[in-house]
Amino acid sequence: MRFWLGWGLALLLGGQALAQEAALLERGRYLVEGIAACGNCHTPKGPSGDVPGMALAGGLVIEEPGLFRAVASNITPDPETGIGRWTDAQIALAIREGRRPDGSLIGPPMPIELYRGIADRDLAAMVAYLRSVPPVRNATGRSSFQIPLPPSYGPPVGTVAMPADNPVSRGAYLAGPLGHCIECHSPVGPDGRRDWSRAGAGGPPMASPLGQVVPRDITPRAIGDWTEAQIFRAITQGISADGHQLNPPMAYGYYARVSPDDLSDIVAYLRALPSGP
Ligand code: HEC
Ligand code: HEC
Repeated sequence: MRFWLGWGLALLLGGQALAQEAALLERGRYLVEGIAACGNCHTPKGPSGDVPGMALAGGLVIEEPGLFRAVASNITPDPETGIGRWTDAQIALAIREGRRPDGSLIGPPMPIELYRGIADRDLAAMVAYLRSVPPVRNATGRSSFQIPLPPSYGPPVGTVAMPADNPVSRGAYLAGPLGHCIECHSPVGPDGRRDWSRAGAGGPPMASPLGQVVPRDITPRAIGDWTEAQIFRAITQGISADGHQLNPPMAYGYYARVSPDDLSDIVAYLRALPSGP
């Protein structure tokens, strides 16, 4: 009797663990392939977007003249050219604190300053998902930085809880640590760093396949009279309120997978931003 009872319990617990693992993976997929848009930098692009079969395999070059020529890393589980030999903790440290297992620092434009705010649970989900994607063998070149990298991005992060349960806090988390909207859409201060006090007020021009594009002001000053549907369409389809098509690197191809609830929270946050000067 006790034997059968124990066995039943073990099966039940085993089933629960599997369900939890599946939920974690699903959350990780939603984050990496959706709001976090890791592939916007880590998947190489051809004339018609992401190169098929090369998801997260790296090689895309991002240049900021005078500052850096960054080559996005292969973050698939390939043991030779990707992160297949890293432990979960090592992958987590690389994403949230920008430190590789060999101690070196990951350079810009990976938005580590914002990633320091990724909640523990979401970080674990991202790591689980990255482990599950098909390994792709792709040796990428090395980045070169004309500006010295800092010794670190800050003190050890410790633990980060999920945001408070209200639309504006959730939206701030989605537009900051997860979706890095405010990395592109905020001005750079005199010290060369993003000026978070003016988050959303528009960023400096950036390179796109079609020449330079400017991440616009997305505070209420600029989009205050847009309807929620118009803001949703800009984020998920890359169509501005006046109907014109927006260009990459605005990551609408990834944001198309963001849930309606999360989109509403992002809009609540944008509507609460102080208007640009
Ligand atoms: C804006 C572009 C950008 C985004 C977005 C981005 N990364 Fe990166 N990432 C890079 C670049 C560029 C490097 C290489 C930097 C260097 O050479 O120092 C890098 C390096 C890494 C590394 C280190 C790999 C190695 O072998 O050195 C990991 C892990 C990583 N990224 C994971 C992620 C994950 C996960 C996401 C999404 C949550 C993400 N990145 C989003 C640009 C980006
Ligand atoms: C990698 C940089 C980048 C990221 C990340 C990014 N954007 Fe953008 N965004 C742009 C650029 C560049 C444009 C303008 C493109 C153009 O004019 O063709 C733009 C345009 C927009 C527009 C349209 C503004 C207008 O006046 O037409 C909205 C709204 C917007 N972004 C919101 C967001 C939100 C919300 C997020 C996060 C979920 C986000 N963006 C993430 C670069 C980015």
